[in-house]
Amino acid sequence: MAGFKTLDDAGDVTGKVALVRVDLNLPMDGGRVTDDTRVRASAPTILELSRKGAKVLLLAHFGRPKGQRSSTQSLSMVIDAVQDVLGKEVMFVPEVSGPVVEQAVGILRNGDIAILENTRFWPGEEANDPEFAKSIAANGDLFVNDAFSAAHRAHATTEGLTHLLPSYAGRSMQAELEALEKALGNPEKPVAAVVGGAKVSSKLAVLKHLVGKVDHLIIGGGMANTFLAARGVDVGKSLCEHELASTCEEILDAADTSGCTVHLPYDVVVAKEFAANPPSMRICNVHEVATDEMILDVGPQAVEALADVLKTCRTLVWNGPLGAFETPPFDAATVALAKTAAALSKEGSLVSVAGGGDTVAALNHAGAAADFTYISTAGGAFLEWMEGRVLPGVAALEA
Ligand code: 3PG
Repeated sequence: MAGFKTLDDAGDVTGKVALVRVDLNLPMDGGRVTDDTRVRASAPTILELSRKGAKVLLLAHFGRPKGQRSSTQSLSMVIDAVQDVLGKEVMFVPEVSGPVVEQAVGILRNGDIAILENTRFWPGEEANDPEFAKSIAANGDLFVNDAFSAAHRAHATTEGLTHLLPSYAGRSMQAELEALEKALGNPEKPVAAVVGGAKVSSKLAVLKHLVGKVDHLIIGGGMANTFLAARGVDVGKSLCEHELASTCEEILDAADTSGCTVHLPYDVVVAKEFAANPPSMRICNVHEVATDEMILDVGPQAVEALADVLKTCRTLVWNGPLGAFETPPFDAATVALAKTAAALSKEGSLVSVAGGGDTVAALNHAGAAADFTYISTAGGAFLEWMEGRVLPGVAALEA
């Protein structure tokens, strides 16, 4: 990882206008924010700049309005949640550039905070239009990118602005990049990766990249069925992408060549129907799955063996649940292994980094999230990073 500047390099920001890219793409229900994790992640950056006397203009997207204003996707809806987290009043500005923003800057006192409107209301955002970026930059003195979770997008406010103003990583971006570097960039070995989730097809690039990087690849979720089937196991009516058999074989061969041990479950939890606590549920060896049964979780013996693997490792990267964790008791393997990882992290023998989609929900459900070394707030960006891809928003900061 090349170097990037942080807020420590920004010098005296008193009276300066800091354009701060944050991720306010927050889960909402009935116009109310239901999870403010991303606001809390960026609060240290926003409050630090405010404390240091900058005028802070927050830039963010919400949803995918495709270059048009939409009243249901206005960032005015998140003002209350942001004010609650920051414990400060926040002004809303219904534009991202031009005289309305200029006027707002004139009204703001040093240390004040404003949120500009959803950047994706303008087509120039997703097009990374240099003129659009220039019009935003015209009202700022410096740019701070604190939105790792949007850094896989080469958009005007995630990438373009970095080329126009002195640019710095915010504290959350800095923490993400440092944690990710520790986990895959320059990790302490042995390294384990847990990759779960429904489909191999959605994580092919991740698996291909990881077999060349990690010592142990633990595959769970529906995607393990596809690998088992590729190895000739009859997985009954389990979720399975049979057409990917040869791809799975290629991944297993690549793992062999690079010395990566791939762990697939050898006992599993099966049932005839997918429901909570179904009467047909049983635990069996993977070779004993009946044609009318489906695999819904990794079995207890396999989980114990996986826990032993983690005990030999120094670094863990986790993405995706091991079973159908939202439906009990098919959360058991995810909960048990997450608890082991959390305990090892707490005692200091393991650096554990997790992120992406429902991973955070699964680890919260396991009560394990707090003891992981680092939990990323990113979904798609975390996956792209696990694929070994260069994230445009990060590359621009490092240039
Ligand atoms: C996210 O929610 O993962 C980020 O905010 C990116 O959103 P996007 O997938 O709409 O670009």
